[in-house]
Amino acid sequence: MNTIPSPGHCLRLLREVGCSNEVINHCEAVRKVAVRIARKAHADVQLVEAGALLHDIGRSKTQGIMHGVEGAKIATSLGLPDSIVRIIERHLGAGIPKEEAIALGLPPKDYLPMTLEEKIVAHADNLIENDHEHQIEKEVEKALQKGQTKHAKRLMELHRELSQRCGMDLNDI
Ligand SMILES: [Fe+2]
Repeated sequence: MNTIPSPGHCLRLLREVGCSNEVINHCEAVRKVAVRIARKAHADVQLVEAGALLHDIGRSKTQGIMHGVEGAKIATSLGLPDSIVRIIERHLGAGIPKEEAIALGLPPKDYLPMTLEEKIVAHADNLIENDHEHQIEKEVEKALQKGQTKHAKRLMELHRELSQRCGMDLNDI
């Protein structure tokens, strides 16, 4: 299937697979920020909106690091387009390169967001804590506290790249 699902369809899918209200509220918050960024960045707004709503569909199975991989599996089994599957699989942080994925126990491959739409959904998620907006510096601080310096660096790089593309600091989006 190559059709991008409507927002209503995405929300139905989240409920059908058993996502909690907390996860659904989070996805709605990410959707709002992601759509604002997509408009500014002249990205595919429809794809970003569906990808943002579905990015955490894997949290119906696990809240851990595997939720991206699990979510991609669910999306594939639901017949969703590859563009959505990749957004889900590559949304963690600012992406995870293969060597770090292996260390984390993920199936060995790169999980780096490549397209503009993949980057926007991953980063909108970085700008949302639960269901409210927060500054990227907070997310960077959390990564540094866990000793994840490469992750912190990738977060700042993605923030800079997308802010530049949008012509504004995305902390203010
Ligand atoms: Fe997630």
